[in-house]
Amino acid sequence: MSEQIYKKRILETQKYLGEEDALILFASTHRYKNKTVEYKFRQDSDYFRLTGIEEEDGILFLKKDYSCHFSLPKDKEKEIWTGIRLGKEKIKESLGLSESFDLTEWDSKKEDLLTNTNTLFYFFGKEEKIDREMLSIISRLQMKLREGKFGPSRIEQPEFLHELRMIKTEEDLECIRKAVDITKKGFLKIMRRTKPEMYEYELEGILDSTYIRNGAWGGGYNHIVAGGKNAVILHYNTNREKLNHGDLILVDSGAEYGYFTADVTRCFPVGKKFSGAQKEIYELVLASQKNAISLTTAGRKFLDIHESTVRFLVEHLRKMKLLEGEVDSIIEKKEYMKFYPHKTGHWLGMDVHDVGRYFLKGESRPLRDGQITTVEPGLYFDPSDETIPVDFRGIGIRIEDDVLVNGMSPIVLTKEIPKEIDEIERLR
Ligand code: GLY
Ligand code: MN
Ligand code: MN
Repeated sequence: MSEQIYKKRILETQKYLGEEDALILFASTHRYKNKTVEYKFRQDSDYFRLTGIEEEDGILFLKKDYSCHFSLPKDKEKEIWTGIRLGKEKIKESLGLSESFDLTEWDSKKEDLLTNTNTLFYFFGKEEKIDREMLSIISRLQMKLREGKFGPSRIEQPEFLHELRMIKTEEDLECIRKAVDITKKGFLKIMRRTKPEMYEYELEGILDSTYIRNGAWGGGYNHIVAGGKNAVILHYNTNREKLNHGDLILVDSGAEYGYFTADVTRCFPVGKKFSGAQKEIYELVLASQKNAISLTTAGRKFLDIHESTVRFLVEHLRKMKLLEGEVDSIIEKKEYMKFYPHKTGHWLGMDVHDVGRYFLKGESRPLRDGQITTVEPGLYFDPSDETIPVDFRGIGIRIEDDVLVNGMSPIVLTKEIPKEIDEIERLR
């Protein structure tokens, strides 16, 4: 993305700050998998959105009329091992900052930067080490009152940055559409190639390689590849078991491209066809999902979609004699939760469970144009539940699409990933 966009976003952010406010964003740091082995690096979403910088440990500091950044110092010897560092001059110029420093200068400058600041905006509660550092700066500044200086009297989450992230821009949508397109390639491959006796991790491998070969970072979250009864474990991702003929497989996966992730779930038979019981449950989940998508319209309270989906599923589960009693009482007592224990969707964007509040003043928020939400109802039948028919035991089905709110006409970004039974069976 062009550097102009980051300059623009920094200026846009500064407009939210008052004269005595300061905002600090911290880059991600490298994490270790074991001893000297690092996890693959992924920049912090908020820091990346404003800087476009993919180096670790950077710090962006903003006031209304001042901006600076701290970055890894240029260091020939270190750069031989870990790659060229941008360096402070380049960062200052490309982001249009007032000043730019090496990270080694942070300790000597941080107190001065926060002197005479009233509200300190930063995302507290994420990194204990940073929280402690901020509190210790504040307590040192409190000692300087007699010198006519003061430190922050309030720490506040920069919620406005997350509000901005909720409504997707054209640039955001470009990345998401690409992430979805790469995800589609992965799903089509596994739908075509899966055979009985393969292992779950072989499908994971196909998804990963398809994503990476098409320019994605990889998955936006750990792939869930759950054969048979593993599908009833909502966040199953060990992906080590063999796929058996006659079972269904549930795959929940999404490519991350340009710092945006898709989030898709499809279920398909390990063999060629769905069984009668699998079909019955699948059609029910699919019908509830289509109903939920039709409700994903601007102005509708987000919680309405979930409540309507619960009611839809309960009415049908009652007809199937899987739940007993009055619909309202089943809902009130949450008896449906043994089959449907999660919510119908979540915000989607740079993070799979994306930022932004779901409730304001205790009320579920109305959807707005430009938001993306997943729509992902499911039904899960405990393999050891002897109160349900044998054929249903161990079936887990979730169908998940990514939906862009667009007036009264929701746009299903992931619609090209097959979900109708006949489409799926044609690919098997
Ligand atoms: N893949 C995680 C979720 O669907 O929420
Ligand atoms: Mn999801
Ligand atoms: Mn998912």
